[in-house]
Amino acid sequence: YVIGVDLGTSAVKLLLINQKGQLVHEVSKEYPLMQEKAGYSEQNPEDWVEQTISGFSELTDSFSGDVRDIEGISFSGQMHGLVLLDANKEVIRPAILWNDTRTTAECQEITERVGKDHLLQIPKNIALEGFTLPKIEWVKKHEPDNYAQAKLFLLPKDYLRFRLTGELHMDYSDAAGTLMLDMENRSWSEEICEAFDISPDFCPPLVPSHEMVGNIKKEIAEQTGLPGSIKVFAGGADNACGAIGAGVLQEGQTMASIGTSGVVVSYEENGDKSFAGKVHYMNHAAPDAYYTMGVTLAAGYSLSWFKNTFAKDVSFDDLLDKAADVPAGAKGLLFAPYLVGERTPHVDSAIRGSFIGIDSAHEIKHFTRAVLEGITFSLNESVEIFRESGKAIDRIIAIGGGAKSDIWLQIQADVFNATIVKPNSEQGPGMGAAMLAAYGTGWFASLQECASVFLGNEKTVEPIPENVEKYKELFALYQSVYTATNQIN
Ligand code: XUL
Repeated sequence: YVIGVDLGTSAVKLLLINQKGQLVHEVSKEYPLMQEKAGYSEQNPEDWVEQTISGFSELTDSFSGDVRDIEGISFSGQMHGLVLLDANKEVIRPAILWNDTRTTAECQEITERVGKDHLLQIPKNIALEGFTLPKIEWVKKHEPDNYAQAKLFLLPKDYLRFRLTGELHMDYSDAAGTLMLDMENRSWSEEICEAFDISPDFCPPLVPSHEMVGNIKKEIAEQTGLPGSIKVFAGGADNACGAIGAGVLQEGQTMASIGTSGVVVSYEENGDKSFAGKVHYMNHAAPDAYYTMGVTLAAGYSLSWFKNTFAKDVSFDDLLDKAADVPAGAKGLLFAPYLVGERTPHVDSAIRGSFIGIDSAHEIKHFTRAVLEGITFSLNESVEIFRESGKAIDRIIAIGGGAKSDIWLQIQADVFNATIVKPNSEQGPGMGAAMLAAYGTGWFASLQECASVFLGNEKTVEPIPENVEKYKELFALYQSVYTATNQIN
């Protein structure tokens, strides 16, 4: 057995997977998000550690097999979040997360100091509020006392792994989201670190995602019931692990993952292309590979916001079932999911969402359908950018919450105008983490070989031509909403 730990934004999920790739047991433990001011999004790293440890205990308690057969653990982590440690490796302040947008001024300063061209040559991404370097600069400027104490930074899953093993590392796929990695050379960029007066000790040692970085500490083994012999592998960024868990392991493969955020990820063999910063370009958690990615900040988050605000007592299943009765186009209702700003393609943390075309005949089901369609339109912006860059995208693997519902799978097929493949596990990131452990531990000679055993498809969904036509028109209208609303504050 191996365990895949998916350290998400709302919860940590632990998946116990057997050698055939089957899910034997799953535990999910939630933790809160702190949103002290508009645009702020923080979490207490201690919550991640406590909930993971208690999740491990639940997992071992309910496991009927021999725990000594659990051979490896690996991690998938929410990306970009800044964890600052002092000289005693204690956390200095709450982690500032990927969806925190307080750093617009710092992004401008970084772009001015390094130059957009250089950013596109070294980390291969432009400075965005979500990325880690702008957060470091924010702390330096606004909390000089905290910054003076900071000796090292980690990303969320690296901090969790540090607490379990005592070892400090970061893998390339997560480091790629810091804006400090020389993406093609896989090393911390001296040029960027010097430009911001960041000493090499501030950055943890880099490792590939499938590398074994240690064992769990004795006290963690005692607390959780896990065997001390269990091998711990570095793991990767959640989107990279999601791609592995969806089998995005060769050129031509693309996935759409809808969690709190939504992403479209496409495999890239090489790190020497240019996407002019229109989409993210990062190191994969699969060895020596890369991927491009477009991000919708509030994907599943838009749907859960909608439910919590307008339909609290209705279950997600009921909500989506009713939306399935509404024809494509939600009877003229259009939704733009910019609840917390938008990344791809607008890179605008100030834009906010809208419902347009409300009619007195509209009911909750029309709004629900409009929310699903609006989120999918936003993801389609990324699909279209990939197509414009020359990629042929006629097949997309759907994972995450968006893959759990038939109606949303059909909307994806119709909006993306592509065959949607639903894998037999929609566990993307956690499964990808488990696959890194399975490969790292030597069960398979490659991740591809692991994928051929672990992954299969449950079904495919074909686009319905008349809906495709309808959505083409609506997508053009959707695209005009941004320019029509970006002056509103
Ligand atoms: C990607 C991003 C999000 C997080 C979610 O750049 O910010 O998708 O990785 O955990």
